Amino acid sequence: MIIGIPKEIKAGEKRVAMTPQGVDALASHHHRVLVEKGAGEGSGFSDTEFERAGAILIGSAGEVWKESDMVVKVKEPLEEEFDWLRRSQILFTYLHLAANRALTQKLLESRIVGIGYETVQEKDGSLPLLRPMSEIAGRASILAGGMCLEARHGGRGVLLCGASGVPSAKVVILGAGVVGANACKVAVGLGTRVSILDVRPERLGYLHDITQGHITTLISNRMTISEEISDADLVIGAVLIPGAQAPRLVTRPMLKRMRPGSAIVDVSVDQGGCFETTRPTTHEHPTYIEERVVHYCVANIPGIYPRTSTLALTNATFSYILQIADHGYEKAMIGNEALRRGLNLLDGNIVCGGVAQSFDMACMANPFSPHP
Ligand SMILES: NC(=O)c1ccc[n+]([C@@H]2O[C@H](COP(=O)([O-])OP(=O)(O)OC[C@H]3O[C@@H](n4cnc5c(N)ncnc54)[C@H](O)[C@@H]3O)[C@@H](O)[C@H]2O)c1
Repeated sequence: MIIGIPKEIKAGEKRVAMTPQGVDALASHHHRVLVEKGAGEGSGFSDTEFERAGAILIGSAGEVWKESDMVVKVKEPLEEEFDWLRRSQILFTYLHLAANRALTQKLLESRIVGIGYETVQEKDGSLPLLRPMSEIAGRASILAGGMCLEARHGGRGVLLCGASGVPSAKVVILGAGVVGANACKVAVGLGTRVSILDVRPERLGYLHDITQGHITTLISNRMTISEEISDADLVIGAVLIPGAQAPRLVTRPMLKRMRPGSAIVDVSVDQGGCFETTRPTTHEHPTYIEERVVHYCVANIPGIYPRTSTLALTNATFSYILQIADHGYEKAMIGNEALRRGLNLLDGNIVCGGVAQSFDMACMANPFSPHP
């Protein structure tokens, strides 16, 4: 198969959909990989590295799209790329169609085979291609929080890990899913005092066990949240109700009771955020102060670590890419239930229930599902 890796063009996007290691592995399976010149620069992979791994470097994005049976990307196609989409071409990337009617329409018209990273789903409901970004966002949230606590950013000047004879910071994490557990891991590693809250007792039990009781686990409810955050240095928002807006767990009056110069990092900002005072920020202007609390609400936290993010993403996507390349998407989907769930669009039809529902459009049965 001919696989194309264009350079990402979305503003600020520095990740690339494949590493030279991935190219080498595909080449060893006798596939041809076309990489747009400069595609890996933002993640620290040079054209020479790609070429040595067996990639064919191409000067223009249009050429990559035109020649490829499958285009693998990081972000959804933008308007500049629409003219290059063609019938039956496989597009494997983050699509997030349910939030974008115009893009859905355009992709339907083009009759591409659209497979969305975000809907590839294992039997147990886990989302293996979203997980790496949640992992990175969770870990990075503690580093961002540490920055917010610096005096120069309006923070109360508390060093997360404390010093000898000086207590470490108190970190409260709302939500114990992938983001929350990873925030917890870094916070514990830094020696902070951690409280983590969730509505799922079994999840709290798991974290309590693996940290050998070094953290405080609490069932999430209004009163407990209010009490816990009142003397916290840093609060991380990491809750998710799938398919819905994040619940507003921290109201303005609750925030007012926090100490001046304490900090919040709302990772769930991409679902509306779990603090009443949350509004999205960017890496260029990541923080603002409200009710004397420093807020960090960047919606694409992994974007600031493109090298790590590219490696984590491609580690997760590669086996699916290889299966599609080796067997064709039809056979690959028949043999792999998780990948099958990733199919969003096929020959001008919506195949993903969630996407069809969002736009009140018809949904075609997945033709690769086993028949009862
Ligand atoms: N800002 C970013 O850059 C970025 C990056 C990755 C993920 N995210 C977002 O982070 C959020 C969390 O993602 P995740 O992968 O950890 O999801 P997840 O499903 O793994 O975890 C969410 C957790 O929230 C818990 N929860 C639900 N309601 C709660 C409540 N009332 N109180 C306490 N806990 C509650 C759930 O039980 C679950 O354990 C999502 O909104 C995701 O989109 C943001």
